[in-house]
Amino acid sequence: MSILKIGVIGTGVMGRGHAEFIRDHIPSAQVVAISDVDQSRMDSLVQDLGGDVSTFTSPEEMIKSVGLDALIIASPDGLHVAHLRLAMAANLPTLCEKPIATNLEDARAIAAEIAIFESKLGKRSIHFGFMRRFDPSYIELKSMMDSGTYGQALFVRTITRNVSSVGITTEGLYTNIAVHDFDIWRWMLNDEWASVSSHYPKPSSLSPAGLIDPLVFSAKLLGGVLVVGDIVANNNYGYDLRTEVVCEKGSLEIGIFGDVIKRANHVAEVAIGGPMVENWIPRFEDAYIAELKAWVESVTTGNAHSDLATSADALAATEACFLALKSIK
Ligand SMILES: NC(=O)c1ccc[n+]([C@@H]2O[C@H](COP(=O)([O-])OP(=O)(O)OC[C@H]3O[C@@H](n4cnc5c(N)ncnc54)[C@H](O)[C@@H]3O)[C@@H](O)[C@H]2O)c1
Repeated sequence: MSILKIGVIGTGVMGRGHAEFIRDHIPSAQVVAISDVDQSRMDSLVQDLGGDVSTFTSPEEMIKSVGLDALIIASPDGLHVAHLRLAMAANLPTLCEKPIATNLEDARAIAAEIAIFESKLGKRSIHFGFMRRFDPSYIELKSMMDSGTYGQALFVRTITRNVSSVGITTEGLYTNIAVHDFDIWRWMLNDEWASVSSHYPKPSSLSPAGLIDPLVFSAKLLGGVLVVGDIVANNNYGYDLRTEVVCEKGSLEIGIFGDVIKRANHVAEVAIGGPMVENWIPRFEDAYIAELKAWVESVTTGNAHSDLATSADALAATEACFLALKSIK
């Protein structure tokens, strides 16, 4: 079997993470070329990957010069639209990090272009990095909810708190961070977003002036489930991601280490504790690897894995972000 030759645009935290996960876990694929405006970052990744990788300061040059089979886009949010257009022009199956775009007009335009491109191709070719769909704890929670044992889901409490978020804007709290919530709850509950409101706790004196931090949102799905989420850009204590689904006959929770905890039939399980990690990479390592495996297999077989986020999914999550942004006063 021939090895899938992958190019990566952007070699920061996520580009490096994807490249290392492919090296360590996906023998049927290889990162053969990388592109970044920062040569030293690329040099360090080349060394890490074992040397046999071409580097390019221009993604266009990379795509022109190397016979790639597929592309990963892990550039900053504002470059995804341009890089998606490059991918389609070169007919490269692509996994693009979230979000699809940083404004609604661009999101709608590129989603429409992807729809036309894929319809001509006759198959899905462009997917998006909403990896919570591949996380074992979210998968377990979904299967518990779908089993009906706990009755219907009524409301969700969800928490996303970063240790620090350098350079984040208030808009980015939605388009860069909460976009994961707007994807995962839509996927978990198989429903569409109806409305989003913003709420404002006491601002942290340790966060940059002008940033709304923390930010709380309440979002309703068409079927009536309410999702209340908090986003803390700079919590100064450890990466903290948790969630609880309150159902008619029980409470189902994902703890900080991805442990699934139930409260039902008058029995309460308890969350595990321990040292906290600094960011999302260790927490979601299994999810990133599973997502990459599903994507590589989809590219290789031509049959897209049904849980990989499509352009329509990515657009729906970004549409919800802009419902949220409209609510900011
Ligand atoms: N799915 C997830 O869990 C997850 C988590 C974090 C970030 N992300 C997304 O991944 C993307 C990258 O995030 P990150 O945390 O790795 O950011 P980062 O800042 O660490 O890395 C971005 C890289 O892109 C490079 N770059 C800038 N301009 C470029 C250009 N024109 N061409 C090529 N490379 C260029 C930068 O030099 C940098 O190395 C973002 O869109 C972000 O929203 C997703």
